[in-house]
Amino acid sequence: MGGLCFLLISTNLLFLFFTISSAVDIISPSQSISDNTTLVSSDGSFELGFFSPGSSTNRYLGIWYKNMNIPGRTVVWVANRCNPINDSSGMLMINSTGNLVLFGQNKSVVWSTSSVKRVENAMVQLLDSGNLVVRDVKDGISGPYLWQSFDYPSDTLLPGMKLGWDLRTGLKRHISAWKNSEDPCPGNFTYGIEMELQAYPEAYIRNGTAKIYRASPFNGLTFCGSSEKHPARYGFNFVYNDDEVYYMYKPTIKSITSRIVLNQTTSSCIRFHWKKEDEAWTAHLSRPRDVCDHYGFCGANGNCIGENPVCQCLKGFKPKSQGKWNLADWSLGCVRNKPLSCQKTDKDGFLKFVGLKLPDTTHSWVNKSMNLKECRAKCLNNCSCMAYRSSDIRGGTGCAIWFGDLIDTTQALTSGQEIYIRMSASELEENDSKLKTALIVVAVIAVVFSGVLLVAYYIHRRRKKLKEIRDRNQDNEGAPNEDLELPLFELATVISATDNFSSNNKLGEGGFGPVYKGTLAGGQEIAVKRLSRSSGQGMNEFMNEVILIAKLQHRNLVKLLGCCVQGDEKMLIYEYMPNGSLDSFIFDQTSGELLLDWPKRYHIICGIARGLLYLHQDSRLRIIHRDLKASNVLLDNEMNPKISDFGLARTLTGGNQTGGNTNRVVGTYGYMAPEYVIDGLFSVKSDVFSFGVLVLEVISGRKNKGFYHPTSPNLIGHASINSKLSSCCTYAPNRW
Ligand SMILES: *[C@@H]1O[C@H](CO)[C@@H](O)[C@H](O)[C@H]1NC(C)=O
Ligand SMILES: *[C@@H]1O[C@H](CO)[C@@H](O)[C@H](O)[C@H]1NC(C)=O
Ligand SMILES: *[C@@H]1O[C@H](CO)[C@@H](O)[C@H](O)[C@H]1NC(C)=O
Ligand SMILES: *[C@@H]1O[C@H](CO)[C@@H](O)[C@H](O)[C@H]1NC(C)=O
Ligand SMILES: *[C@@H]1O[C@H](CO)[C@@H](O)[C@H](O)[C@H]1NC(C)=O
Ligand SMILES: *[C@@H]1O[C@H](CO)[C@@H](O)[C@H](O)[C@H]1NC(C)=O
Ligand SMILES: *[C@@H]1O[C@H](CO)[C@@H](O)[C@H](O)[C@H]1NC(C)=O
Ligand SMILES: *[C@@H]1O[C@H](CO)[C@@H](O)[C@H](O)[C@H]1NC(C)=O
Ligand SMILES: *[C@@H]1O[C@H](CO)[C@@H](O)[C@H](O)[C@H]1NC(C)=O
Repeated sequence: MGGLCFLLISTNLLFLFFTISSAVDIISPSQSISDNTTLVSSDGSFELGFFSPGSSTNRYLGIWYKNMNIPGRTVVWVANRCNPINDSSGMLMINSTGNLVLFGQNKSVVWSTSSVKRVENAMVQLLDSGNLVVRDVKDGISGPYLWQSFDYPSDTLLPGMKLGWDLRTGLKRHISAWKNSEDPCPGNFTYGIEMELQAYPEAYIRNGTAKIYRASPFNGLTFCGSSEKHPARYGFNFVYNDDEVYYMYKPTIKSITSRIVLNQTTSSCIRFHWKKEDEAWTAHLSRPRDVCDHYGFCGANGNCIGENPVCQCLKGFKPKSQGKWNLADWSLGCVRNKPLSCQKTDKDGFLKFVGLKLPDTTHSWVNKSMNLKECRAKCLNNCSCMAYRSSDIRGGTGCAIWFGDLIDTTQALTSGQEIYIRMSASELEENDSKLKTALIVVAVIAVVFSGVLLVAYYIHRRRKKLKEIRDRNQDNEGAPNEDLELPLFELATVISATDNFSSNNKLGEGGFGPVYKGTLAGGQEIAVKRLSRSSGQGMNEFMNEVILIAKLQHRNLVKLLGCCVQGDEKMLIYEYMPNGSLDSFIFDQTSGELLLDWPKRYHIICGIARGLLYLHQDSRLRIIHRDLKASNVLLDNEMNPKISDFGLARTLTGGNQTGGNTNRVVGTYGYMAPEYVIDGLFSVKSDVFSFGVLVLEVISGRKNKGFYHPTSPNLIGHASINSKLSSCCTYAPNRW
């Protein structure tokens, strides 16, 4: 009974506290905000009030971050952008039709909202997201918004804000830079998603009406503020359906304060992060980033490759003016080597291009239900059709065709897609004959060598068989020999999950082959390690890894979901780790400092230690990992570390055995214990050595091998010279 009483009292207290604390973030119909008062969101992160930018004396109503100790405010939204108030008479009220009205000097209206719905009693609230919303009092605190500031962005895109169109209401949300740092009125630069002329939505930064940067929103990679290396980290979302088309982001780690701003001087969009330790914003990613990001830099049918020379003509095209092209004036672009023969449709064909940033889709056409073959025919049937591809950006279904010159293509290194560009038959023939010559040469060489290879292969196989039998006898002695209950995946399942191992899905290159991200039919995300045929990992290491990991279950070890063996394909299917590997954080100056504070680093070190302890002591088998390093530690979405890559692991059997000897030293230099490198002796201590190196790296943020210091050869040397881990901060005195 007493417990119940306490519960009642405490819920009452809670309620009381809630109502009091939330009073300051809401204004009700009878209240107003004048120049000397502000509204603060309930968690204290945003504030609404009047401010004067720079040295200007004009007053504007705006929203800024509250808890930031920096000179000048970081304003994220302005109401009366072009209509300043020149004294302190400003007053924000809700009028009797439920609209926000800002009065200025002499009670004139300088700004107001226009809600579609009229309500008698409306209230205004500043949310913790920085969104100022108007609701009907009758609907209460969870009612729908009659109006919200997120629908009318200024120069800043905050997490949760939509950049794009509401196709039902026609509302377009784009961001526009200030005129200058003292005038928030929109200048000439805007950034938004456009789809009026085109079937494919595209995002442009414009200078007035001129395009200066184009981003394809579909894969999110080239979008403002996105990271090509870690797309998952920024949690971007692109929605395109009959109702809406928009881009939105939300950092996967909640504690990150992040904003994307279109800058009025540089005309670029920049992603900023708030760094608590420094009490400062750090610019993180910015677009346009290089010459190839400048819209249409290489002219019509030109392809920006970035260096020496910056521009090339697409294959099958030549500079329109060779003279100008030689002088690095690319503006005239390229024309065809051989004209299309158009009328006789069977005379033209297509050349496949892979790895291009797709051309501007302003003059394109899309049909989502056509297949690629129909698409090709459709393109051949129209003389102005230049290229086609599947309209689904991930490849596969649908049809997109381009008309006229191909503009703004770039040789994308990581995220390009394939496209078929129309060529005349004679152009294709020329290509064909070159290809044929090459093929014949290759064929001759192949015939000569295949005999040699065959002999070598048979010798190799015999040896391997013998070794396998030997190893099995050695490794499995005394070990429980139970059946594996590991799901076998069909090759077809893996292919469809990874989109036929598309380069877009490639996560990286492990020791024995590439790793791909995949999505199973049910939506589960997986990581597929595809063992390259040429890799050293034969059946031996493969079965070794499968058997080992299948038996291991620990929260600090990557979980194996299954494997796939078909033909000569061997694949391991793991749970997907959205944050990638540890090395990408600790050795990356910006994201490392930003995302890994001391408690997190400590947490990661302890996690690795727990995983290792399990391998060494607590699992049924005693396992030596033999290749512990930063790139083999993966991070889940809560930054919990998980040890991966057991390709080189060894089991030690027979209870008290703690070491062994090998005639094949494997592992990664920089992490290997000296006795292992020199004498091939390995034991759990080899892993402990690697762990020590890893700890040094995690706390110093430097690579053991890449470390440079005049008096010591590497990080370990440096640590032992300076001795005492207690002075570990000397490695990077300026960083914390
Ligand atoms: C704020 O300004 C209003 C109108 O200018 C005035 O009536 C009020 O007294 C001021 N309040 C404070 C706390 O200065
Ligand atoms: C403020 O602007 C009004 C016109 O909108 C003008 O009449 C007035 O003189 C200005 N006041 C000051 C202090 O500049
Ligand atoms: C202010 O408003 C009053 C009454 O509407 C008008 O007579 C006066 O001229 C206005 N003053 C200015 C500076 O606009
Ligand atoms: C409320 O403000 C809106 C926008 O300025 C205006 O259209 C409407 O007439 C106002 N309603 C009243 C009753 O003043
Ligand atoms: C915007 O462009 C116009 C001409 O197109 C130019 O006159 C004006 O100075 C530009 N504004 C800014 C802020 O650059
Ligand atoms: C924007 O356009 C103006 C002309 O309208 C030009 O002077 C200026 O250099 C352009 N700025 C950029 C960044 O393209
Ligand atoms: C734009 O960039 C300039 C120069 O880098 C900087 O001084 C200014 O503060 C930036 N503006 C915004 C809104 O970030
Ligand atoms: C799209 O393609 C399908 C299948 O070929 C066809 O039936 C349909 O008419 C096409 N739609 C348009 C608008 O061309
Ligand atoms: C070819 O496509 C263009 C652009 O869509 C269109 O205007 C033209 O009518 C088409 N021609 C034929 C023969 O379909």
